[in-house]
Amino acid sequence: MGNVYEKLQRALASVRERTDFVPKVALVLGSGLGDYGEEIKKEAVIDYHEIEGFPVSTVPGHKGRYIFGYVGKVPVVCMQGRVHYYEGYSMQDVVMPIRLMRLMGAEILFLTNAAGGIKQGMHAGDFMMITGQIASMVPSPLIGPNVDELGLRFPDMSEVYDKKLQAIIRKASVEHEIPIWEGTYMQLTGPNFESPQEVAMCRTLGADAVGMSTACEAIAAKHAGMRICGISCISNLACGISPEPLTHEEVQQTADLVAPRLKELITASISAM
Ligand code: HPA
Repeated sequence: MGNVYEKLQRALASVRERTDFVPKVALVLGSGLGDYGEEIKKEAVIDYHEIEGFPVSTVPGHKGRYIFGYVGKVPVVCMQGRVHYYEGYSMQDVVMPIRLMRLMGAEILFLTNAAGGIKQGMHAGDFMMITGQIASMVPSPLIGPNVDELGLRFPDMSEVYDKKLQAIIRKASVEHEIPIWEGTYMQLTGPNFESPQEVAMCRTLGADAVGMSTACEAIAAKHAGMRICGISCISNLACGISPEPLTHEEVQQTADLVAPRLKELITASISAM
């Protein structure tokens, strides 16, 4: 397993050889948002390959780099591409980039993803602000020796998604007339999409949207003392709700189509943080 904190320190040293930028907000770009970098007044870019020990994604459509710069006046580090548990990485590796952004100085984590919609009334192309999550279908990223330098062995999860950040996103959605659902995100491992029976299970358990990322990242960030918010792009209705078979291409196409509105909402929200 190796010492997680030492590995993080080596990765941080690789970053600090390139930039001394201190972000306030760490933004993770999900499907369709890959080109959000265009919205950022760039100060530095670091390819994941250049960072010692960094997990690099294999999914088509996911680039791999950190972008440092400003959204409005707010200093941000942005992850263009993330790694997923289904790619075969350990959960510790999956959340390593999040922890690294914490060590760079980020206080706020802004998560985005593509997800299958479960809540009644949702349509492909809608957005959902994440107000809660169910992560217990995937291993916790905190399994293993506790990284005491980051946080407690038994961290509280009573408010994973910060209420004040939710209020900021809500306000931005009203001001920009971009309607947004609110609900619970549930992470499954993937990479297969769910069966209709599994989607029925997710709904019974209280999920409004289902995906293959994000909740584990939120746990690692909460452990490390970050304030967290998140928005899902409902790229499709979950299996069994949608009459059509699901494809990754459909997920990407829908996410690409509505990305401009989501970018507007993200920019407005971050500018107010
Ligand atoms: N299920 C799981 N993950 C997803 C989906 C889905 O329907 N759409 C986008 N990511």
